[in-house]
Amino acid sequence: MTAEPTYRGFALDAETALALLQWQAELGADEPCLDAPLDRYAAPDRAEPPPAPAVQAASVVAQPRDEAEDVVARAEAMATAATSLAELAEAQEAFDGIELKKGARNFCFCDGDPAARVMIIGEAPGEEEDRQGRPFVGRAGQLLDQMFGAIGLSRKAVDAERALYITNVLTWRPPGNRRPEPAEIAMMLPFLARHVELAQPQLLVLMGNTPCIAALNQQGILKLRGNWTTAFGLPALPMAHPAYLLRTPLAKREAWADLLSVAARLEG
Ligand code: URA
Repeated sequence: MTAEPTYRGFALDAETALALLQWQAELGADEPCLDAPLDRYAAPDRAEPPPAPAVQAASVVAQPRDEAEDVVARAEAMATAATSLAELAEAQEAFDGIELKKGARNFCFCDGDPAARVMIIGEAPGEEEDRQGRPFVGRAGQLLDQMFGAIGLSRKAVDAERALYITNVLTWRPPGNRRPEPAEIAMMLPFLARHVELAQPQLLVLMGNTPCIAALNQQGILKLRGNWTTAFGLPALPMAHPAYLLRTPLAKREAWADLLSVAARLEG
């Protein structure tokens, strides 16, 4: 029988371990380190690793990688061929390389006004989004509406100057709201890039870690937030996700500063 893994004396199942890791990443911990300093000069020289069975290992890993590259290439071809947002939505909905499609209820492409100056990119549909087929309509979405309402922007605004356009990295709900996997992000990225290209907003807001991973290849939202950067060739501001703000009300102060920064960019 294999012993149950533990952390500081507590039993640690895989789900808890993953949740702990994600929580640490959200706080900005992006380097693994030990509880006590390690004197590497005092450590014995590392033994050479045994030679790997090269031929066999290569053939084992090559297959799935080729398949994954194939799926991404298909996504790229479909995304590039779309010449309007309607065509893109149709192509992305038809794309069958992503398993999540089989378990989701509804395709969740966008909400708001595609002519808006601000495009918000979130992570993935949750339960309510999956039910309605629109991004950010659950509790986090309600907070998002309040946040942007405070700087005079709304997804329902009739005037494009005051409007918001909203999408997610994933258009299908991951089961149990788990984090998107790197392979899922990779195959949705060509669609997202084309989405931004066709919508042509003035600026992007990257809500939480997942859009930062997709658009910037970086994570650690609490370090990234508030710092303007460039994503898909446009000015982009990473912000803490509203779901995180619901769990951590103290972080709303920084979120408010970030919203003011968005407002200032629009005015400037
Ligand atoms: N969280 C997101 O990132 N997107 C949604 O649409 C809903 C919750």
